[in-house]
Amino acid sequence: MPQMRLDKLLAHLSCGSRKDVREMIRSGRVSVDGVVLTDPAAKVDPVSAQVALDGQAQAYRTQRYYMLNKPAGVITASRDERHETVLGLFPEKERRGLFAVGRLDKDTEGLLIITDDGALSHALMSPARHVSKVYEAEVEGVLAPDAIARFEAGLALRDGTVCLPARLEILSRQGERARVRVTLHEGKYHQVKRMIAATGGRVVQLRRVQLGGLRLDPVLPAGAFRALTGEELMLLQQPAER
Ligand code: URA
Repeated sequence: MPQMRLDKLLAHLSCGSRKDVREMIRSGRVSVDGVVLTDPAAKVDPVSAQVALDGQAQAYRTQRYYMLNKPAGVITASRDERHETVLGLFPEKERRGLFAVGRLDKDTEGLLIITDDGALSHALMSPARHVSKVYEAEVEGVLAPDAIARFEAGLALRDGTVCLPARLEILSRQGERARVRVTLHEGKYHQVKRMIAATGGRVVQLRRVQLGGLRLDPVLPAGAFRALTGEELMLLQQPAER
């Protein structure tokens, strides 16, 4: 493989824009094969070079993986005539080939993976893999006293659809309002809202905080995205825990 400028390689590794990565290199945050390089124009072999940013190894990737903190009011689609889309939150030149892994409702916030890796998307969404998805919700109404046990046993929705066993945790309660955490191993249409409805509550706010082993970065603002680190990508690729 031909040699590549270090700043170009880092930008290619989704470490930041060309301008950002030049700054990272100049400030001594980047090492190649264990040696700190401060010249953005230094030539490196993109395949064999062991590049690290702040001590974290950056694997050469031909595919792109982003964590998006989806804001409410944006639909999970690539393009839409009437609504703002999650891909619309990306600069136009980065958008090509990207898609969302799975779907969140328009009013749902939180963790959404945006990638161009069809195989990973397929693996994460495959019903046979049961990859866990963790949501936090604000709920109105009084949940049935046996709600936790019914989630655990495999809840029947109001239309008779039976869900896989899931976990319901009550994080806090104040009068007829509660904050709950729901862990699912499947992804039926409006599933959290329908499960909560089947146990007497109404979801008024919903946020996905985890997919497989990957947690939403708590400091990533709503509407913002960033590239996954190598470690995060590994967490996403790990088999789901049940
Ligand atoms: N469950 C829902 O009800 N909505 C989502 O967006 C995701 C899970």
